[in-house]
Amino acid sequence: MTTAFPDFGLTPEQRRFAVRGHYYEYPGMDGGRGEIWCYSDRFSYGPGEKVTLFVSSTASRFDLEILRDGAGETPVLTERNIAARWQDTPDQCSVLGCGWQDSFEFRIPEEWPSGAYRLTLRAEGRDGAPIHCYHLFILHPAPARKTGRILQVAATGTWTAYNTWGGSNHYQGITGQNRDQYATSVSTQRPWCRGFVVLPKEAPRVPLEVSLQVGTTPRYPHMEWAYATGYSKKYASAGWASYDGHFFRWAERAGYEVDLASQHELHFKPEILDGYDCAVFVGHDEYWTWEMRDAVDAFVGRGGRAARFAGNFMWQTRLEDDGRTQVCYKYRARAEDPAYKSGDVTRATNSWEAPEIGRPGSATFGLNSTNGVYAGWGGCAPRGVRGFPVCRPGHWAFAGTGLFYGDLLGADSHIYGYEVDGLEYEIRHGLPYPTKTSGAPEGLEILALGMASQVEESDVLAPEDMFFGDEDGRFIAETLYGEASDENLEKVRYSNGMIVNFPKGRGEVFHAGTCEWVAGLLRNDAMVERVTKNVLDRYLKR
Ligand SMILES: [Fe+2]
Repeated sequence: MTTAFPDFGLTPEQRRFAVRGHYYEYPGMDGGRGEIWCYSDRFSYGPGEKVTLFVSSTASRFDLEILRDGAGETPVLTERNIAARWQDTPDQCSVLGCGWQDSFEFRIPEEWPSGAYRLTLRAEGRDGAPIHCYHLFILHPAPARKTGRILQVAATGTWTAYNTWGGSNHYQGITGQNRDQYATSVSTQRPWCRGFVVLPKEAPRVPLEVSLQVGTTPRYPHMEWAYATGYSKKYASAGWASYDGHFFRWAERAGYEVDLASQHELHFKPEILDGYDCAVFVGHDEYWTWEMRDAVDAFVGRGGRAARFAGNFMWQTRLEDDGRTQVCYKYRARAEDPAYKSGDVTRATNSWEAPEIGRPGSATFGLNSTNGVYAGWGGCAPRGVRGFPVCRPGHWAFAGTGLFYGDLLGADSHIYGYEVDGLEYEIRHGLPYPTKTSGAPEGLEILALGMASQVEESDVLAPEDMFFGDEDGRFIAETLYGEASDENLEKVRYSNGMIVNFPKGRGEVFHAGTCEWVAGLLRNDAMVERVTKNVLDRYLKR
């Protein structure tokens, strides 16, 4: 680790804007060079189904290449000289969809294997230099007995929530009278932002790889890099390139047979899980519908095994317009979500731990987002543990690792952060147990336990250098305890991240509640690989 922050050539003002400003992809942003953009009618398709692409370009022709992005990159389709044109895009396209005319269609051959398919569209810019863009769709498997196969479910709800294309997402936006509000509805009918499909190796991850010297104010290399290079402000928060893809490629290279689905399959076709012994969830996995949870709960109840190497199980969403619109009011839910006035309040698009919803995250995956959240960046444990502090080294998940009590699992590869999920716990004789009011399922064991924080605080951190200060903490205090008072803030200020394991129905759940588990696979951390294999092999009955 270095002791200096990387320098991407930004001025102090630009660095500030990179972190606090709102910048995003929009048609026309590249000016004289010209552009090409693409989205598809759906996230995912089955074998034999028709894919429709919507393309807008300053060029009149483009070439299309499709490859399967797994253990290797396998080209599957090339098409040249497809006609294109510039298409009008509505100002509120992030919310309403782009509404472009279709540009190209093809049918997926029956023999293509399930997985992620990356599209590269190349054309000539106005100045004669090449322009390009990427898109990705998921090919989900056909129904059949899936003995020995893993079904990985990509965190497409979180991709959608963070997609900056067109100006609005569930974080920042150009909605509202002053064009400064985040969007409570976002459309799938728009291109992915830059960096969700493909990223260069040097793109920083969120957790800091800088050893902070005395009195240092933390910075945000990933957002500085994004602003300096033209990638999305949120490239490191979601997407295939930062998260899901690392698990998929690693698992195939490690010899596992992996199928891939989007969260839309859990919602609309829960039978997608039938026949699998093991379902896997990875990365930053923050947005779920009620129906998606029903699918996983039923799968585990009837004997399925769920392995979640993911963090931040936070928000309930609703899908509208056959899944083309994702709704999440979030911080404004109690004031604005119609579910509170006329509808079924259990479907309110608030935190899963909001008491009126009555379905804490722990009921499905054993951990709650509101007992966890930030570690390893900004004002939240930026010098923190990096790995999971192990407290039950004798557990089967750690077999063969040589890990001891108090060791850190995955510190070298920095798997702990940047958002983690936790539980209320108590320590007896050096071992943590969930408290009676924690919501932990019966029989849950805590295998590892680290610190996390919901509030940025330090005597060297000036208010203008904070990313979110105590906003998130106050929201969670209000959500859980009814009022964002100082007293309630103290109840949520400090939190934790855990690895847990529990039986449920006839099945079982293993949950390493961290976004960054994939960093251990990406960085070939043998300890993290071993634990991952221990879980997968047991759940596949290898
Ligand atoms: Fe998150």
